[in-house]
Amino acid sequence: MTIMTNNSARHAIDLSTEPPQLYGRFRRDPLMRLLTGIGKVWFPFWGPVSPLRDPAADDGVLTLDIIDRAVVAVDENVIALTFAAPDRSILPEWHPGAHLDLLLPSGRMREYSLCGDPGDRHTYRIAVRRIPDGGGGSIEVHDGLRIGDSIQIKGPRNAFPLVLPGFGSASRKLRFVAAGIGITPILPMVAMADRYGLDWSMIYSGRSADSIPFAEELAQYGDKVTVRTDDVDGLPTMAELVGPTPDDDAGLSVYTCGPVPMLESLRTFLTDRSDIELHFERFSPPPILDGTEFQVTIASTGRTETVAADESVLTALRRVDPAVPYSCQQGFCGTCRLKTSAGDVDHRDTLLTQPERDEGWFLPCVSRCDSESLTVEI
Ligand code: FES
Repeated sequence: MTIMTNNSARHAIDLSTEPPQLYGRFRRDPLMRLLTGIGKVWFPFWGPVSPLRDPAADDGVLTLDIIDRAVVAVDENVIALTFAAPDRSILPEWHPGAHLDLLLPSGRMREYSLCGDPGDRHTYRIAVRRIPDGGGGSIEVHDGLRIGDSIQIKGPRNAFPLVLPGFGSASRKLRFVAAGIGITPILPMVAMADRYGLDWSMIYSGRSADSIPFAEELAQYGDKVTVRTDDVDGLPTMAELVGPTPDDDAGLSVYTCGPVPMLESLRTFLTDRSDIELHFERFSPPPILDGTEFQVTIASTGRTETVAADESVLTALRRVDPAVPYSCQQGFCGTCRLKTSAGDVDHRDTLLTQPERDEGWFLPCVSRCDSESLTVEI
């Protein structure tokens, strides 16, 4: 008992001090003392330049260089941008399904899925479709960002993780369903599934052959990838998208990204299939369920706007003030966060904590109103 106590006490000494010398001639080993001293002097200078440091600034914002810009769809409406640290050091790690927040020079923030190789720790790649009638973010990326420019980013963050069969998923087969620019989060998933030798297949649909990005890159996977276009093949059925379902107990996981109507149809189609996991990411706002009309008042001006039953508070506010910030429009990034000073909020996000809600914060891209009107502090 006594010996155990002594050993415990010995382990409790400060581990940053040098150990005793092996031969007992010195209370502290002289060589270890020298090396410790050198380490203490050297580390403050080495830390900031070490290739293993996390280059993210304290506020999570990284400034990167644009080192490549490529047109990746025949119709030239999709470009891929590749970023690297100014000193080409290692970037924070990411996994398939992750995205970056781009802080654009105009002040807009937009999220884009990472579509490069997660094994490449020195670059990030995103792809952006030009949306002429969108909020202006894609136009700014297409027309304003060039090789050699700097760009600020936040992230990577992952709201659409790939769960590998045998590592958290009971399924042993993977089915990837991508539509148009929805290919971006799927591309690194396919690469990982293929690299790990998993049982996978993919269907990739789009309006026309000219409109689908990364067709050449996907050609390396041969007949594991089925490309179909609406102008030649018509709209796909849900059975086509899901593909042959396993007739044994292998289980199937479907990973999909595309327009909301396709995702909603897939969800309905698979409602009764408890043997099939469905993982999806939207690239546009979700449909508004059980919406009713109400009024929103801007506190600073007193102006009141009607929020229709099928539109978001964010949409109504941006009619009045197009500068109201937003990004995901799905209630998970927090960019659109505003405070209310009157009215009952119907919170529909999964981001805000109860204390934040109690303070009046809400996300106007998804949350609505339980009373007749809301007053927001802008
Ligand atoms: S825009 Fe992302 S939470 Fe509202």
